[in-house]
Amino acid sequence: MLETVELRKVYKGKIAVQEVSLYLDQGESVGLIGPNGAGKSTTISMISSLLKPTSGDVRLHGKSVIQQPQAIRKVLGVVPQEIALYEELTAYENLKFFGRVYGLKGKELEQKIQELLEMVGLRDRQKELIKTYSGGMKRRINIVAALLHEPQIVIMDEPTVGIDPQSRNHILETVRLLNRVQGTTVLYTSHYMEEVEQLCQRMYIMDHGQIIAAGTREELQHILAGEDTIIIQLSHKEFGLTQELESFESIRQVEETEQGLKLIVIKNSPIMSRIVQAAERHHVQILNIHVQSPSLEDVFLHLTGRTLRD
Ligand SMILES: Nc1ncnc2c1ncn2[C@@H]1O[C@H](COP(=O)(O)OP(=O)(O)OP(=O)(O)O)[C@@H](O)[C@H]1O
Ligand SMILES: [Mg+2]
Repeated sequence: MLETVELRKVYKGKIAVQEVSLYLDQGESVGLIGPNGAGKSTTISMISSLLKPTSGDVRLHGKSVIQQPQAIRKVLGVVPQEIALYEELTAYENLKFFGRVYGLKGKELEQKIQELLEMVGLRDRQKELIKTYSGGMKRRINIVAALLHEPQIVIMDEPTVGIDPQSRNHILETVRLLNRVQGTTVLYTSHYMEEVEQLCQRMYIMDHGQIIAAGTREELQHILAGEDTIIIQLSHKEFGLTQELESFESIRQVEETEQGLKLIVIKNSPIMSRIVQAAERHHVQILNIHVQSPSLEDVFLHLTGRTLRD
């Protein structure tokens, strides 16, 4: 339905996006994951024809849309990363304004506004000024603004960053409803792997302007089929121990996490006793140790050597 072909953007000699080729089939929900500065927003701006690519193409039903941005604007709804609303107007007035921009009016627009406000759980707050809204509520209104013209494809750029859990739940529920009930095609961008796992059938992982992996959850996890994840809870942090573990051949990655030290090790390697001995040498007690199958976060760590929220 929608695809990018070797999309590239260079800002004053600095490459922001390089040769990004991705596609969305009708009715799919697809995730786009990557750390800060990976090039997600730049890619989205080029898809939505707000930004001209340095090279490459964006195609809707096989036809290039770079020369005719109108075609894509009609079928696409974009929820930008930055909130774009008028602070001095009420939520309702904002939506009325954006509806008119799309050429909607009268009863039809009124009905759509009420239906969508209901969907994001803000119908009873619509007469209040945007400047009195919380960040999460603004985000929800921003989403409604992108849905007024009933787009067939919706792109959301990190809609849940830095907001309260209640707004987050409303947003996730809205995405689910749009995709699973209404059949809208969704491209969902996030730093949160667990959101993408819940919402998307397929995902692209982006880093340094490139797509470094793509596929379903199972396909991506297969990248780590030969590895185990070991989580060790320690009495205290000890840099020397981390360093020593990093030097073991069968340990691919060592990372400090909230649950403890996370090791990605070659599957079935006889490493436990060596870990215990190393801890003893550094006078660190092991409080707990367990092996788990790798998560998508681990796949990301494996591919980039970094966590998503570095
Ligand atoms: N207008 C611009 N001028 C120059 N460089 C830019 C501009 N916009 C983005 N960049 C650079 O392009 C790269 C990709 O940025 P982009 O905003 O697309 O990343 P992102 O994946 O959306 O990151 P985040 O998760 O922080 O939103 C970054 O290195 C950024 O500094
Ligand atoms: Mg961004």
